[in-house]
Amino acid sequence: MSGQNPTTSRKTWNNRWTFMLAAAGSAIGLGNIWKFPYIAGQYGGGAFVLVYLLCIALVGIPLLMAETAIGRSTRLSPLNAMRKLTSDAGVFRGWEVIGWMGMVTGFIILTFYSVVAGWALSYAWDLLTGVFNGMSADQIGGEFEALTASAPRQILWHTLFMVITVLITARGVHKGLEKGLQVMMPTLFVLLFAMLGYSILATGEFMRGFHFMFDVDFSKITGEAVAAAMGQAFFTLSLGMCALMAYGAYMPANNSIPRTALNVAFLDTLMAIISGLIVFPIVYAHGLEPSAGPGLLFVSLTSAFANITGGSILGFIFFTLVGIAALSSAISLIEPSLSWVTERFAINRVLATWLIGGAIWLVGLGSVFSFNIWADVKFFDKTIFDLAGYMTDVFLLPLGGALTAIFAGWIIKRSVMSNELAMSVGLFNVWRIAVRIIVPVAVALILYTALK
Ligand code: TRP
Repeated sequence: MSGQNPTTSRKTWNNRWTFMLAAAGSAIGLGNIWKFPYIAGQYGGGAFVLVYLLCIALVGIPLLMAETAIGRSTRLSPLNAMRKLTSDAGVFRGWEVIGWMGMVTGFIILTFYSVVAGWALSYAWDLLTGVFNGMSADQIGGEFEALTASAPRQILWHTLFMVITVLITARGVHKGLEKGLQVMMPTLFVLLFAMLGYSILATGEFMRGFHFMFDVDFSKITGEAVAAAMGQAFFTLSLGMCALMAYGAYMPANNSIPRTALNVAFLDTLMAIISGLIVFPIVYAHGLEPSAGPGLLFVSLTSAFANITGGSILGFIFFTLVGIAALSSAISLIEPSLSWVTERFAINRVLATWLIGGAIWLVGLGSVFSFNIWADVKFFDKTIFDLAGYMTDVFLLPLGGALTAIFAGWIIKRSVMSNELAMSVGLFNVWRIAVRIIVPVAVALILYTALK
């Protein structure tokens, strides 16, 4: 992002791939590689995956287009975009709440996201230094317990991740990350495909993992599972907190929003599915449990790396890339509040980034402690770490997304959106039905069942 005054119209990213890269960088992250397999594992596989895919198609893609179009139509920061569009439409200013909620949601997500990204860095380091050499899957599981039981170790890595995030965000996404991402995202792809090859050829359990992910047991489609699947769809596509609105503001006018949205959703979904197809066969091959929880990725993949020649170095590269994927997502989580703070308090971007990053770091300690000294501190029967994930996935993101959809479908002038989306009338009408009706109704139904 540039540090320009967000109330003036800004330069756009001139390369047509930059928006794709930034949006895909935001979307692809821990949500795909860490969270998707762990949640799919907890909710029993196929049924969850089916609902998740439906949510991506019916709710995610229309909303991805809406958020991007809102950002591009005004070229303003999310909050100012809301302000301008509501005043243009001559309606109630309260719609700004979408912008406020987005900032809070991004803040909360990053508090635990950074802790998990820290785990990835810790694994990268431990693999490189040979900590896991010759360990059994059981011992490797014990190592995950040891990491989460240790507040100081987690604080070290959480701090490192936040410092890197702040240093890069302060420079701006464009300057800070674009060059690096152009190399690293494709490398991550290649590595994931290589791991997929390993899962298919070497675990001997590929089909079992495959069936776990794609055989649908309809009795497992509970209200809670559906809510989790929808939350995961929002989380993985970076929807419901204005992140893509902020990026859309920089998108060149001649890029096709529908096509870009489809590409981003496709790549993101592909990464999640591949991660699942890597993790579950390894899980079975090592006698682990699909429902093991947040440690699933770390324990299963490390068990595989410990058995491959050159696994230490491969594992080091893999977890480093996971950390980098997390970094490009973290930047989009911080950006909405950062652009607001720099506008509102007239302080420079660097100082603002350190202040916000520091606050996130501090609150993130709550997530660190929820695995050890505060393991018994529970709200609604959930630890701080679980609560932060649940609150954002199941409530804040879907709510923010539904409000954005209603705003795009019912409040903004039709011509503004049809200009931005530039689709045939027929397709535009399909999109409009999705944001006007399908997204709000789906979210309302799911929230209702989750709350009941
Ligand atoms: N989508 C990212 C992931 O899957 C996380 C993320 C980045 C996010 N920005 C977001 C989630 C905005 C929700 C909203 O890892």
